[in-house]
Amino acid sequence: MTKSRPTIELKAAESPAVKQSIERAKHAEHEGRWADACAIYERLVRDPDAHANTRLAALRWLGRAYLEQGNRSAALDVLEAAVASADTLGSPPAVAQALNVIGIVYQVAGDLDQAAAMYQAARAKAELAADGALIAMIDQNLGTVELIRGDLRAALEAFRLSQLGYQTLGLRNHEAQVLNNIALAYQELGELGDAEAAYDEAARAFEEEGDRARRLDLLVNKVQLYIAGRRFDEALTQCDELLAIKTDEVPQWRGEVFRHVGVIAREHSEFPKAAEYLLKAEKHAVDIGDLFLRADVAEQLAELYWAQKRHRDMLQSLNEAHSLYSQLKAQHRVAQVEKRNGALEARFLEMAKQWGDSIESKDRYTQGHCERVAFFSCVLADSTGFNARSLFWFRIGALLHDIGKIIVPTDVLNKPGKLTDEEWAIMKRHPEAGLELVADIDFPGDIRAIIRNHHERWDGKGYPDGLAGEQIPLAARILCVADVYDALTTTRSYRAGMTHARAAEIMLGSTGQFDPHLLQVFLEWAETADIPGRPTPQRLAIFASSADS
Ligand SMILES: [Fe+2]
Repeated sequence: MTKSRPTIELKAAESPAVKQSIERAKHAEHEGRWADACAIYERLVRDPDAHANTRLAALRWLGRAYLEQGNRSAALDVLEAAVASADTLGSPPAVAQALNVIGIVYQVAGDLDQAAAMYQAARAKAELAADGALIAMIDQNLGTVELIRGDLRAALEAFRLSQLGYQTLGLRNHEAQVLNNIALAYQELGELGDAEAAYDEAARAFEEEGDRARRLDLLVNKVQLYIAGRRFDEALTQCDELLAIKTDEVPQWRGEVFRHVGVIAREHSEFPKAAEYLLKAEKHAVDIGDLFLRADVAEQLAELYWAQKRHRDMLQSLNEAHSLYSQLKAQHRVAQVEKRNGALEARFLEMAKQWGDSIESKDRYTQGHCERVAFFSCVLADSTGFNARSLFWFRIGALLHDIGKIIVPTDVLNKPGKLTDEEWAIMKRHPEAGLELVADIDFPGDIRAIIRNHHERWDGKGYPDGLAGEQIPLAARILCVADVYDALTTTRSYRAGMTHARAAEIMLGSTGQFDPHLLQVFLEWAETADIPGRPTPQRLAIFASSADS
């Protein structure tokens, strides 16, 4: 995904001893020894031989090192001290630098408003000092904040300013990094021509600078552009070139290239190759701890399983993607993650519905049953105080409540007369069979309860567990009311659908089957609700008259 990162400009002109300390600290940072780096910076801050500006810079570096260790409050403390000292020294560039790092602290914490405010304040000081490079760097950070927020136009505007600044100063490498961000923003806007132009310009600049590592990162991003434009041949050629590169260390981007190859194979209906590469990408993402790539690969795997009609695997992958995106929400590109998760939820419902439908297609008298039950259940769940998040899962559970019927032979499902004892025994196994099907999917508890316990009875005479009263999970009690109401009001193999009044009479008369409170709430709603296709006396009359004619 994005390679944009906050940047900090480091400047120091100092005695050899102080310079050496700085070098040791930077080396420690490079090796991830943040505690060692902190210790050196803490000494530098108090070193009377060091130049005042160096001591100030050390405060900023210390702040950054605290941040890397996850200690935000310590980072803010020293950075605020840095701002105060810089102010006392009357050095606007130093104030700007410190404010910029404070902005980064807020950005990392996900407080984007505060981050933007700090960057703006830093920019004003940098302008006062007429420090062009600093202004360009801050503009880049401002663009990154907009990118995280999802305001791509504002991001582009800030990135363009930054690029112009670096261009004027002849800082080609910096300019190319900003161009990469510009390309990503255009790509997300779907303006692929502009994105490509920005990538090409960035690639030229990295080439001139001999920055091979960044050029390769850029080429990986460009593959995504080809795929978005359905230019699969060019994408594949680029992937092959990238995978052919021999390196000592496994580069970070390799997982992304595997994913791209998998996606292209899936688009070409080469399913075994698609699976092979997507699973390679998943392994790589796990190895390097890249949650975003893992979420993305899980989503792509779900699409592959959907194409192969592997319903259970598809829901498992979707569920994994959903939970990974939820974990990422706080710290990653919030707007993008929310958009992805929103689209994913729609896909999730669609896929759950298809799985539900595939069961229904065996049972020709219950077309649309799962969807109607899901709708009725959500109305009832909503009125009992389930929140929107739970309702989403509730709906999935309701769509899947009868998946266990896959084990029931079609002739038994469609039998017009009474079932034999043996047939009835098979039919009664469907809740447990359903639960077995989703056993290894990490679904929230309500879904499991709905599938397993939707045939329990309030008086304890239901199946499979014989639970009674409030022992029966609320979600299952709700589904039971919705399920029976829909069964009564739609046409079955053995009788025509009933009106609301008749269905209500039967359900109220069936003492011991339903949670009385839930039944009352539901029937009150259903009496006046306009339910499309429901048999009403008027509709039945029309049906009767056309049958007569
Ligand atoms: Fe059922």
